[in-house]
Amino acid sequence: MKIVLPSGSAMNSPEFLFGSATSSYQIEGGADQRLASIWDTFCGIPGKIRDHSNGSVACDHVLRWQEDVDLMVELGLDAYRFSISWPRVMNPDGALREEGIDFYIRLLDRLNEHDIRPFVTLYHWDLPQYLEDQGGWLNRETAYRFQEYADQVTKEFGPRVYSYATLNEPFCSAYYGYETGMHAPGLADRAFGKKAAHHLLLAHGLAMPVLQRNSPDSLNGIVLNFTPCYAATDSAEDEQAARIADETFNQWYIQPLMDGKYPSIIDSLPEVERPDIIPGDLEIMAQPLDYLGVNYYTRAIYRADERRSFVCLPPASQSLTAMGWEIYPEAFTGLLVSLNRRYRLPPIYITENGAAMDDSIENGRINDTDRVKYIQEHLEAVNRAMEQGVDVRGYFAWSLMDNFEWAEGYEKRFGIVHVDYATQKRTIKLSGQSFRDMLSRRKHQAVH
Ligand code: GCO
Repeated sequence: MKIVLPSGSAMNSPEFLFGSATSSYQIEGGADQRLASIWDTFCGIPGKIRDHSNGSVACDHVLRWQEDVDLMVELGLDAYRFSISWPRVMNPDGALREEGIDFYIRLLDRLNEHDIRPFVTLYHWDLPQYLEDQGGWLNRETAYRFQEYADQVTKEFGPRVYSYATLNEPFCSAYYGYETGMHAPGLADRAFGKKAAHHLLLAHGLAMPVLQRNSPDSLNGIVLNFTPCYAATDSAEDEQAARIADETFNQWYIQPLMDGKYPSIIDSLPEVERPDIIPGDLEIMAQPLDYLGVNYYTRAIYRADERRSFVCLPPASQSLTAMGWEIYPEAFTGLLVSLNRRYRLPPIYITENGAAMDDSIENGRINDTDRVKYIQEHLEAVNRAMEQGVDVRGYFAWSLMDNFEWAEGYEKRFGIVHVDYATQKRTIKLSGQSFRDMLSRRKHQAVH
């Protein structure tokens, strides 16, 4: 079983970057060498994490990072997307933590030595607990603290970084963190979600000019996730329900960045749920971007409901990942094409796509043909969008290796490399081998 690039696709050009992605809290461990993040605190609350685990050790990447870079070299990756742990690099008084900065500089240098382009995300959900103690993303001040953090670390990293993303998936930070309470910091109030989201988008807008000034040669942007919203039937009511869900979960995070305004559903929100907007905020958010990172995993189906504006239905088919997410690559094409029609988009990088599967090890091998198929079908889906004019420049598999899957703990495995958490042994899965073989065939073609 192979991963084969569609023939004639721009994906065959060496300019199109293939990589894999991780995030700090999910892989690093080394919790004793940094300050606490909201995820440390959250994992300590009984019942929040399915297997009662936490990220204190995770993949022990702070210790094993060289071995992990060797893995990337072996896979032949063009790029590696990872995130900086804010509480590893910055103290409450704003002073940098040297040990933390040095760790990332060594990693960046090693990646560059191997021509693996570093895609650095500044915020992948692990807010310093000391900032949550001041109100976290419900406090407008956090946006300014983020700007300061972005300023200082980009100065330290200098020209080592190929691409920066301000935030990863502000939807998840705001909605799961402050509205449903499924993620850290675990607050659950309808009045909180959009207020937190506003300060996250403001943080992004405040940081962008700082990135452009301190790191003018890197590609600077943001990573958003999208779950395309489908109507259960073609009735006008269900269509409307899907549209409102889409504005709430997807467009809410991109429209302010592209058009400088929130979707029109803001007018029908109850007063308490509205964000606290100060004149000028939307102009700050709508900074020009060098690229947009798009994360895609699945779609969702909605129907109308008398009490609430929409209700999400269970997946429509039996084709599911281990997360219970429907495998539906068509929605990926549809998403990219529709975003491209609606907005004047910068170039796109697919910054995450992948699947948790019930992997099993047999004789030391992980024969994850279902994941190989998932990647193949989703690359084809991206290519179909490219054929319809969407400017996609790269694709990152989520994830380089199995890791701490947030509220699911370690039970769900997304890696193209298997991690044995008892021994920390890494084993490249069939999907990783197929990714590597595809990349090496491409390199070979480019040379000849
Ligand atoms: C994301 C998440 C990842 C998850 C992945 C699978 O950016 O969506 O940041 O950290 O592990 O999405 O759920």
